[in-house]
Amino acid sequence: MQGQDKPHILSPSRQDLWRFTESHIWTFDTNHADPDPALSILRTLLDQPRWLEAHLLYDERGSQLFEQICELPEYYLTRTENSIIAEQAGQMIAAAPVECIVELGAGTSKKTMHLLREQVRQREGGTFAPIDVSLTGLIVSRDILRQQFPQLKFQGLHARYEEGISSIEKDLPTLFAFLGSTVGNFTHSEFVRFFRHLSDSMGPKDFLLLGADRVKEVEVLEKAYNDSRGVTADFILNVFQNINRQLGSDFDLRKMRYYSWYNPEWQQVEMYAISTATQEIHFPTLSISFVWEKEDRILVEISRKFEPTRLQQQLQCFGLKPVAHFTDPKEWFSLLLSKKS
Ligand code: AVI
Repeated sequence: MQGQDKPHILSPSRQDLWRFTESHIWTFDTNHADPDPALSILRTLLDQPRWLEAHLLYDERGSQLFEQICELPEYYLTRTENSIIAEQAGQMIAAAPVECIVELGAGTSKKTMHLLREQVRQREGGTFAPIDVSLTGLIVSRDILRQQFPQLKFQGLHARYEEGISSIEKDLPTLFAFLGSTVGNFTHSEFVRFFRHLSDSMGPKDFLLLGADRVKEVEVLEKAYNDSRGVTADFILNVFQNINRQLGSDFDLRKMRYYSWYNPEWQQVEMYAISTATQEIHFPTLSISFVWEKEDRILVEISRKFEPTRLQQQLQCFGLKPVAHFTDPKEWFSLLLSKKS
């Protein structure tokens, strides 16, 4: 079958961890993944305050709801980031002389298409390697790329981005694109772990393009995460349906409501589920239960907002030197380009 050769973007020592899945797409060997997801969910649910890891939001329905969020009038992030990239992709690519663009948590790579267009225009070719847990997204972006940019090689990596990052060949000049302000969904310890790992995996000719949502008026932020159609509420509460399906638990979605606010001290929007009645939640496979008291909350997601200069300084502490800063006329969103130093 065509497109079966091992991707040249993978370092030779890690190629055996990947298996061929679809034309030009490889999947990371899941023997190396979390051995017991039930335990990792319970660890955070039994914590005080109770909380959940953000990746649990993205089952099939969650991913569809997130696509809908991106189209909402109140949710300015996707539109704003897209307009910055559309207008300034030429400068971004000119400042990062690379042969390969790796996108972390790529989805269908809509925004990245502007970067790829410039890569083709300025360098006549190269490789695009999106990393994503959704095989569907990778297939869509492969098919678009084939049609629009036949000059580019496509090497899709079906994996969590942490697993993909460690496998990329260090000698190949690469631009890592981490867009959408996904960095805002990391806890403080995840933030440190992620950038340490990314920076350690980068070679001396590599760059990072990081999309980050900025601190701004509270009203704008709170509306973006509490839309009038209730799509964000559905997205957040859907996590319990996902957990019930995965663990056989009995969270009652009729007995919970969504609440969010912007915490100015922590510079983050916090998204909670609040129980509207006391309910006992059972986890039959683990023989564990807990009582979720009326009015008690579970922190389902955080979305941190950044001050770009400070974020650039933080990146510097991970060995990522600032190269350029791209923003929109309202200064609502930033794309920071850094180079491994
Ligand atoms: C994916 N991530 C950047 C979104 C955000 O804005 O933090 C997730 C989201 N949660 C609710 N609305 C959007």
